[in-house]
Amino acid sequence: MIFGENSLSNSFIVTNLQEKKINELKIFNKEDWSSAYKNVEKELTKEPLKISKGENIKNLNGTLLRNGPGILERGGQWVHHPFDGDGMITSIKFENGQPLLTNRFVKTKGYLEEEKINKFIYRGVFGTQKNGGILNNALDLKFKNIANTHVVKLGDKILALWEAAGPHALDPNSLDTIGLTTLKGVLKPNEAFSAHPKIDLNSNASSELLVTFGVQTGPKSTIRLMEFNNAGESSGELLIDRKDSFNGFAFLHDFAITTNWAIFLQNAIDFNPLPFVMGQKGAAQCLKSNPKKKAKFFIIPRESGLFRGQPPLIIDAPEGFVFHHVNAYEKDSKIILDSIFYDDFPSVGPDENFRDIDFDKYPEGKLKRSTIDLKKKTCELETISEQCCEFATVNPKFLGLKASYSWMASTNQKIGNAPLQAIKKINLLTKEEISWSSGPSGFVSEPIMVPSENTSEEDNGFLFIVLWNGLRRGTDLVILDSKDLRELAVYELPISIPHGLHGSWVNH
Ligand SMILES: [Fe+2]
Repeated sequence: MIFGENSLSNSFIVTNLQEKKINELKIFNKEDWSSAYKNVEKELTKEPLKISKGENIKNLNGTLLRNGPGILERGGQWVHHPFDGDGMITSIKFENGQPLLTNRFVKTKGYLEEEKINKFIYRGVFGTQKNGGILNNALDLKFKNIANTHVVKLGDKILALWEAAGPHALDPNSLDTIGLTTLKGVLKPNEAFSAHPKIDLNSNASSELLVTFGVQTGPKSTIRLMEFNNAGESSGELLIDRKDSFNGFAFLHDFAITTNWAIFLQNAIDFNPLPFVMGQKGAAQCLKSNPKKKAKFFIIPRESGLFRGQPPLIIDAPEGFVFHHVNAYEKDSKIILDSIFYDDFPSVGPDENFRDIDFDKYPEGKLKRSTIDLKKKTCELETISEQCCEFATVNPKFLGLKASYSWMASTNQKIGNAPLQAIKKINLLTKEEISWSSGPSGFVSEPIMVPSENTSEEDNGFLFIVLWNGLRRGTDLVILDSKDLRELAVYELPISIPHGLHGSWVNH
């Protein structure tokens, strides 16, 4: 009896201590987090950055490009969701370690029209409505290409991407908007062009390929898979183009590639456009998980690979909702795919304020591994880490190959949802992990991994993180050593940038 009592009281103490620890880690000031949500006030050109910690990294040459919403409020009206904010590109160019910042709004047609009268005149996909209530929004199905999701180099241009419409070309030096581009006639005007291109450095077709897709969806969905040369004299040229159609509505934000395959995960969701058409909701708010449906992998052979010309494979996928994949590789007749899984589609409902959300009410992202057997047409799912995370990446030289390490933004706490405040490095083979925290008042974004030159060591390089510093209510750029997450340099940026989306690195 006594033994039993002691065990009970011990386990009670442990539970209390664990809870206390979790609660301590949960402490963040929501205002520190939400203060990042404001309009970017100015455009700067080649502004030198002030270093606040550490030292410039000698011999660092290249440009960090970032995209994300830059306008969140017009004439006192806020967007309903930050994903509805107009794209603003930040470029930080390093010349022998010295950083110079240039930033520009993407001057889309909608941005220019709304800027003139400082009023939202388009509805946003994520629920932003025009003033005037349902009556003024009903039957208005026009949308604004907000070019706010990703920014990459293709050929001699920089492209600002938004998945539901065509890319905007920008001048690589000034970042000035050239305009919507069809990529020399490859795309129809304003054809959908994904915001998640993959840079393949391991293809036989070119020393650098940009592999991407566009989706036309409806009762039947068509995926157009495109592979562009992104190096040398014919950089920017389309090398490979194939189209495959699948039954049903498809919501495909991201994909993954291996040497021979392009892998898509079709989430088990439905789209009911009626509330959008009737002016009650944004189009993305009309997406809803359907527990009766089965998620599917669409696995399309790459025309640069061994299975060119063959039809796609369709295989049942695990339950859950995926925005982002991390990486994939082939092993025998299997594909190993790492992705961030949510229990359900996270959407900000019509009556919620995105600046005051209750994190506990939203599902958290978890890093999981799908092992897809192409012969047996089966899939097994394994959780790599229970900790909430997003924006995971691998060394770009290992994209499509077996990578040992991944870096990602994560919460400080090990369990439950919260803002992303830490950067985590995980060994995908042993699951060992180390973290760097910007807490309690810092909030991180997608880490961009830039490998060191002249080394084959996979984790040797730098991580670039644009960080919201809640203490000084401003944006910092942090550079970490990607091996041990040591802080190498922190710069205070002369502009405040809202929590952003994706970015890339261009070598000089
Ligand atoms: Fe994304």
